[in-house]
Amino acid sequence: MAVDPASAASLTRDTEVIAEFVDVHRHYRMGDNIVRALNGVSMQVRRGDYLAIMGRSGSGKSTMLNLLGCLDRPTSGEYRVGGRDISRLDDDALSDVRGREIGFIFQSFNLIPQLTVLENLEVPLFYQGGVGPESRKKAEYLADRVGLGQRLEHKPLELSGGQQQRVAIARALMNDPLFLLADEATGNLDSNTEQEILALFDDLQKDGVTIVIVTHNPAVALRAERTLWLKDGQVERLDDNRSEAGRAAAEAAARSHGGAQ
Ligand SMILES: Nc1ncnc2c1ncn2[C@@H]1O[C@H](COP(=O)(O)OP(=O)(O)O)[C@@H](O)[C@H]1O
Ligand SMILES: [Mg+2]
Repeated sequence: MAVDPASAASLTRDTEVIAEFVDVHRHYRMGDNIVRALNGVSMQVRRGDYLAIMGRSGSGKSTMLNLLGCLDRPTSGEYRVGGRDISRLDDDALSDVRGREIGFIFQSFNLIPQLTVLENLEVPLFYQGGVGPESRKKAEYLADRVGLGQRLEHKPLELSGGQQQRVAIARALMNDPLFLLADEATGNLDSNTEQEILALFDDLQKDGVTIVIVTHNPAVALRAERTLWLKDGQVERLDDNRSEAGRAAAEAAARSHGGAQ
């Protein structure tokens, strides 16, 4: 039987690994002791994934976020971004990968208060020398995409928290990153606004955006497709939140872990 080229292509795209940990360790020396913040983590993020990283306080979430975001390097093991091992790059090369490939979303939005929505969106391109009519068009498109088409000339403090986070999400998309990396993205928002932002993540994922969120909130993690649970610097389990069995397991795990940060 002939293989339909369209479905073969989509199969390749669906399974393309864009970020990968291969036996990653991150150890800190504390006097005579070694703290194994990550202790042999292997995982993959595929194009189009929506992955949540969960775990109790001290399990290694922040360490993993810093590594995923190219803010830090493994002590040993490989971190592959877009197929390339970046674990031995120097600081400049690493920050280049960070700027081009990763779209950060922070709990505290991190917008520049003096700049308008449009100007905030252009900031990532400004550092790469790419501001001009093209970037302005793209900023307008993305502002519209996140529902802020009528707020282009507003400054952050003239916007609600949810609107500010939308600006941050649009900003994170300006460089067409390989994936979005969100650190407790809804941690500063009330529950209605949290739901709006999670609905926006759902929409973006449908458009093909790859999302990795680090959270201690089980309800937020359950919105992702998969949840990776860290415990003592290792992967404790990987739940498929879209299958019924996976969802039940994830809910039970969320209950037993509580919301403890
Ligand atoms: N800079 C550091 N120096 C020493 N130990 C650290 C450092 N950062 C994190 N750790 C330790 O590594 C472990 C994992 O920490 P972290 O990644 O912050 O976990 P989480 O974000 O899940 O709370 C903890 O035991 C923590 O104390
Ligand atoms: Mg942390």
